Amino acid sequence: MRLLSKHGLAPMNIKAQIIQAIRNPARAAKAFNSTNWNALFKNGSAERSYAAAPWSSSNGPMPYREFFKRFGGSARSKNLRKAGLGGDFLPAASGLPREFIRLCPWEMEFLYSLGQRVKKAIVEVGRFNGGSTFLLACACVAHPIHSIDIAPKDDALLQSLFRQHGVGANVRLIVGDSQHGTFEGTGEYDLLFIDADHSREGCAADIQNWFGNLEPGGYIVFHDSYLDGEGAQEAICDFMESQNDLQIIASPLIGTSYWRNPTGSMACFRKRA
Ligand SMILES: C[S@@+](CC[C@H](N)C(=O)[O-])C[C@H]1O[C@@H](n2cnc3c(N)ncnc32)[C@H](O)[C@@H]1O
Repeated sequence: MRLLSKHGLAPMNIKAQIIQAIRNPARAAKAFNSTNWNALFKNGSAERSYAAAPWSSSNGPMPYREFFKRFGGSARSKNLRKAGLGGDFLPAASGLPREFIRLCPWEMEFLYSLGQRVKKAIVEVGRFNGGSTFLLACACVAHPIHSIDIAPKDDALLQSLFRQHGVGANVRLIVGDSQHGTFEGTGEYDLLFIDADHSREGCAADIQNWFGNLEPGGYIVFHDSYLDGEGAQEAICDFMESQNDLQIIASPLIGTSYWRNPTGSMACFRKRA
């Protein structure tokens, strides 16, 4: 078996790598992150692409199992070991770049289950690569998804990934400031995902700007609500305490070891109907 170095430059045989790892474990550990090690040992290639026919939206939304098989290898992997899960927890091949979805696998699954319940529309605040946008587009094919980001990483790449995989026709990529702007056409929605500015003030401004038009019965979900985070948790708790019309689905009172939580760092409320 031949393995690639971290940067894909110098192919080495497995014997040379094992000798290197024994002689200098610290250097070897630095050269390969855990995902690459596991993928290399299991499959002999770190960046295998999952080759499947594009999804046809006429089949309806993708079941989560199918989504995970095709794209689960692109979930955030940094907390897997801390949660006691081996690197082979994620599929070795993926139709998206590695680490494209900036959510732990269990956060991904939680958000997916909310996306599947949508009956009206989704507003996503903060997309960066568009990993969560892509996930929502697989979970929800029949209703509009409005995704807002002030400085998205690479929307051209995201659009090409949508085309390649047969999803995303219902997604509108908006570039703008989510805290102050109003965006024509966003209308009413029954899922609001907030994952943008994680400061207390920034998160509070997003809540202020977007919660009003969330449909009664709709869900608001936040990423990165945990103790000693950047401040989002305080804003989310302030919000919870100031509203009488919320059902708590996933509490925002999450500790520093947020990866131990079943929904990771996700807090979620339902606006009472
Ligand atoms: C953590 S990333 C989003 C990750 C994405 N939701 C995912 O899970 O793959 C946060 C994003 O919020 C965006 N952002 C920060 N402040 C913003 C603002 N005021 N308006 C719109 N987007 C903002 C940043 O540009 C960044 O791309």
